[in-house]
Amino acid sequence: MCGIVGYTGNRKVVPILLEGLRRLEYRGYDSAGLVYQSERKLVKFRAAGKLIHLEEAVDVAIGVASHTGLGHTRWATHGAPTLDNAHPHSDCTGELVVIHNGIIENYGSLKEELVAEGHFFSSETDTEVLAHLIEKYLENDLVAAVQKALARVEGSYALGVMWAKDPNKIVAARNQSPLVMGVDDEASYVASDVPALLPYTRKVIFLDDNELVVLEKGSYTIMEVDSGREISKKICTIDWNAAMAEKAGFKHFMLKEIFEQPQAILNTVSGRIIPDTGEVELPEISLSGEELCNIERIALVACGTSWHAALVAKYWIEKWVGIPVDVDIASEFRYRKLLMNERVLTLSISQSGETADTLAGIRLASSLGSKIVTICNVVGSTMTREADGIIYTHAGPEIGVASTKAFTGQLSALFMLTLYLGQVRQTMDREKLKELGAALIDVAGVIERILPQLQKDIQELIERYYDSRDFLFVGRGLNFPIALEGALKLKEISYIHAEGYAAGELKHGPIALIDKDMPVMALVPQDCVYQKTVSNVEEIKARQGRLLLIGTEGDTHLATLTDDVLYLPQVNEELNPLLYTIPAQLLSYEIANRRGCDVDQPRNLAKSVTVE
Ligand code: F6R
Repeated sequence: MCGIVGYTGNRKVVPILLEGLRRLEYRGYDSAGLVYQSERKLVKFRAAGKLIHLEEAVDVAIGVASHTGLGHTRWATHGAPTLDNAHPHSDCTGELVVIHNGIIENYGSLKEELVAEGHFFSSETDTEVLAHLIEKYLENDLVAAVQKALARVEGSYALGVMWAKDPNKIVAARNQSPLVMGVDDEASYVASDVPALLPYTRKVIFLDDNELVVLEKGSYTIMEVDSGREISKKICTIDWNAAMAEKAGFKHFMLKEIFEQPQAILNTVSGRIIPDTGEVELPEISLSGEELCNIERIALVACGTSWHAALVAKYWIEKWVGIPVDVDIASEFRYRKLLMNERVLTLSISQSGETADTLAGIRLASSLGSKIVTICNVVGSTMTREADGIIYTHAGPEIGVASTKAFTGQLSALFMLTLYLGQVRQTMDREKLKELGAALIDVAGVIERILPQLQKDIQELIERYYDSRDFLFVGRGLNFPIALEGALKLKEISYIHAEGYAAGELKHGPIALIDKDMPVMALVPQDCVYQKTVSNVEEIKARQGRLLLIGTEGDTHLATLTDDVLYLPQVNEELNPLLYTIPAQLLSYEIANRRGCDVDQPRNLAKSVTVE
């Protein structure tokens, strides 16, 4: 939610800011802006809409010999996505600027106070109060003024501040919104997320809440916001590289990321599942065998696609480990009465590790005595720093706003965790562990093999579906969450209204929607609920629903039900969720692409949801 980037060093700043914003645009694309220091003045450019408009506006400034600046890409919370509301925001003098990610919750009362004192506002944003509040406290010391202003603020922020009278300096601070610094000998960087730094440095420092950093050319000072006490922090080296965050010849990041899934699965299990012995090694979980044996319940907490991964995990863990599992949407979990104690393990699932609701959920669970393990894709993200244990998915940077490879990475990690719990609690014997561990590795190979032809088959099919107004996705058992995921993918990138249902639930209401104009993608693998799912498909056919079936190779019965059948190889049925996700993703992608939608940056969305 909003991307921020800052640089001070020896190089020309405008291209660095633009490149950083390009890499952060997935965080928001309602408007963009930047500011750079020009002698003792600040020069500001802003544009409504996508980054391209800012790029056109700053064309003239690309070669400017300024070496310090800030950039911002906005996901609107307070105030429409207009030019006036685009960041950076200035104080009354225009000599001080602020960029911000987060929400200043008490901005209304602060604004009233500042207006009464004669400050003039030019936007509807909550951010602008920060600029005026810092101005109010500014005498000669920018850092002191920022500290005083932040002491008055309630809410979340990652912010960057520059003052024309204190040139070549950036002050940045964080509370509940992500902020990472990049360091090298000659320059200092700050950004919302690591991809913005990858072309320049892989040495980073993740800032925590109540931390402020003063960046100067090649040096930095980190301190606590409230006390001003200096602190030293560990420099981490990131193992992603800049090319991993490029499209590599694919039309969209989403398509590239769909094709990266076999590798993402293998990277996630590599070194953790030992194929010869069936052993699973997960030392990063940081819980002893005794602690794992004492768990009486598992609470899974996540949002969106990550929540769908949690729903699949409930089936796996309850079946193979015999521990009851609750699955919650984080925004609900955090506001309901939680029955938690030290015998409940809370597991958060998040690609970004920054999702505000999920973070709040684990903080709450932790305060009630629960141990926290997070399954996360972004190394060093807030969730990983707050959890007791971590299982990283090694899917690599996911840039497309619609999550794909992170999802199959999460499923792989959750399946591996199931095996690990089965091993530690001895609910699975060695042979079973070996069989299922091998099946997980196998499914990566199967997906790799089928992807190119499946894409071609779907490209042909979608001519009959791309202009639909509505779409249903149905599945049973392990594939019910995949139906939900298919519907989410389609609606978020193609704007077609779509719903996912448990196939057996249709007759309790949604079947009323079925007629000749209602496409239904049904997931019908030959698994333990196959006959039941086929009966549900028959019910749809009887009401003239337009069936698109995804089933197991060799299942000739499906072809008697509809002309549109896509066949997938038989894999161990526990792993069907990974396999059956692929046609749902490709269908959504191809339909959105055919409709000319902006696949990687769908309207109204942002990848990292750091506000509640
Ligand atoms: C959908 C999608 C979102 C995210 C959700 C949680 O394609 O990407 O639904 O899954 O915002 O994000 P993370 O996993 O970063 O917590």
